[in-house]
Amino acid sequence: MPIHEIRHPLIRHKLGLMRRADLSTKNFREMSQEVAALLTYEATKDLPLESAAVQGWCGQIEVEKLAGKKVTVVPILRAGIGMLDGVLTLIPGAKVSAVGIARDEETLQAQPYLERLVGALDQRLALIVDPMLATGGSMVATIDMLKKAGCRNIRALVLVAAPEGISAVEAAHPDVQVFTASIDSHLNASGYIIPGLGDAGDRIFGTK
Ligand code: PRP
Ligand code: URA
Repeated sequence: MPIHEIRHPLIRHKLGLMRRADLSTKNFREMSQEVAALLTYEATKDLPLESAAVQGWCGQIEVEKLAGKKVTVVPILRAGIGMLDGVLTLIPGAKVSAVGIARDEETLQAQPYLERLVGALDQRLALIVDPMLATGGSMVATIDMLKKAGCRNIRALVLVAAPEGISAVEAAHPDVQVFTASIDSHLNASGYIIPGLGDAGDRIFGTK
């Protein structure tokens, strides 16, 4: 599975700020969306284009436009919502497929609880968004769900990825490309990414 660690200076800077424990909820939220937009730019660099004839100021001209059905963005609830608007800033016409997965804090098993997918998934690129790829259970369950619904073109955007999660996605879904702002060191005994960001959902929603 291709894993792309996007080492752009703006991403490095923003992620450095997000790692600070004293960053406010407001700033953490804003930066999640900003980094998501920067990852979107990288993850969509090879989208296919087609030509179209339009009426320009000097007469008819040929321009380029994105080919095929609209992209679907797939936020993994809850924390994935914290990246959604960042993606939609660059792809405002995208459709949104919401997937609810909760990680059991004791067993670390991913528990799916919601599936609201858009139609014609076999013709769309799906961009899954979730701040954290930890054990990989939530991401693998989401990709399983999308593939079961016919989706064949899937990419994932995560703020921080642990080597354990990367290996899990690679083993289950070697065709899925993952774009991340950072490959971190490891998971601790509670399944948290080190150094990571802490509980991303809590930091985005201001819970705890
Ligand atoms: C977090 C995170 C991922 C998942 C990562 O969500 O946003 O979805 O854990 O862990 P994994 O790779 O080990 O599956 P969580 O289940 O805590 O729910 P939340 O989004 O409601 O905070
Ligand atoms: N979920 C989080 O929010 N943070 C982690 O480090 C791991 C899972």
